[in-house]
Amino acid sequence: MESYTAEDFIKEEKLRNIFNQVFDNQTIEAVHELANKGYIDYLEHIISTGKEAHVYKAVDKAGNPRAVKIYKIETSSFRNMRAYIEGDVRFKRVSSDRRDIVYQWTRKEYKNLEKFTEAAVRVPVPFAFYRNVLVMEFVGNEQAAPTLKEAPFENIEILYRKIVEELAKMVYKAKLVHADLSEYNILNHRNEPVIIDCGQAVLLSHPNAKEFFERDVKNMCNYFRKKGLQKTPEEMKNAIKELKNSV
Ligand SMILES: Nc1ncnc2c1ncn2[C@@H]1O[C@H](COP(=O)(O)OP(=O)(O)OP(=O)(O)O)[C@@H](O)[C@H]1O
Ligand SMILES: [Mg+2]
Repeated sequence: MESYTAEDFIKEEKLRNIFNQVFDNQTIEAVHELANKGYIDYLEHIISTGKEAHVYKAVDKAGNPRAVKIYKIETSSFRNMRAYIEGDVRFKRVSSDRRDIVYQWTRKEYKNLEKFTEAAVRVPVPFAFYRNVLVMEFVGNEQAAPTLKEAPFENIEILYRKIVEELAKMVYKAKLVHADLSEYNILNHRNEPVIIDCGQAVLLSHPNAKEFFERDVKNMCNYFRKKGLQKTPEEMKNAIKELKNSV
C-alpha cells in the first residue's frame, strides 16, 4: 500500500507540523483522496483552529481558492453530535463509534450546505467531502472574511432585512433550521452576510427543530439589540413569515 504524508499537500513546515500533531493517518489519506480528484492541490494557511475542527485556506488543482474544514476525531466534543444526527431521517443508523459519528457529521454538513445552496441561501458552496474532510467555497478576498462579531455591518437595518430573508429561505425553501445561528457563524463578506458552520442544521421534521429555530431567532435578536436595533423574536418571526410566498 502506498504511504501518504502531509508533505505532499503542505509545503510549509510549520503548518505541516501542526497538521501532523492534530490529525491521524486516515485524515491524511482523506486529504490525499480529495487531492487525487483535484479538489485540493495544497493547503496554504490555517484560518481557524477550533475545538472541533480546523479550517484551512487551500487551492484546488485549477488554482481556485478553497476552504477545507477538517473535523478532529479525538478531541471533538460532539456537542451533542449524536442528538443532532438522531431524529434526522437522512441518517437512519447512528453509529456509536466516535470516528463514524464524525464522518457522518461531515457528510451532514456537506448535505446541509448543498440544500442551502439549492435554496439560494448564502452559504459557502460545498464541493466535496471525504471522511472528516469538507471542501467548500472560500469566502473572503486574500484573507478569510471576518465574522459579524469581528466586523459589524455599517447599516444594521439592512443587515436585519438580509438575515430575515436568509432565514425565510432556510425555513421555507431549504426546509432546514440552522440551529447554531449567531454573530460567530455569519461572515461579513463585502457587506453581504454569508452563513457558515452548518453541520448541526436539522430538517424541519426533526423533533427539536422548533426549539432550535426559536433559539436562532432569539440569538439574532440579542445581537441586533446589542447593535442598537430593538426587535422582539415575535417581530422577527412575523417578518420571516411575511416572506413565505416570495422567497
Ligand atoms: N468557507 C469559508 N471561507 C472562509 N472562512 C471560513 C469558511 N468556513 C469557515 N471559515 C472560518 O473558520 C472559522 C470556523 O469555522 P466554523 O464556524 O465552520 O467552524 P466551527 O465548527 O465553529 O469550529 P469550532 O467549533 O471547532 O471552533 C470561521 O469563523 C471562519 O473564520
Ligand atoms: Mg463556528
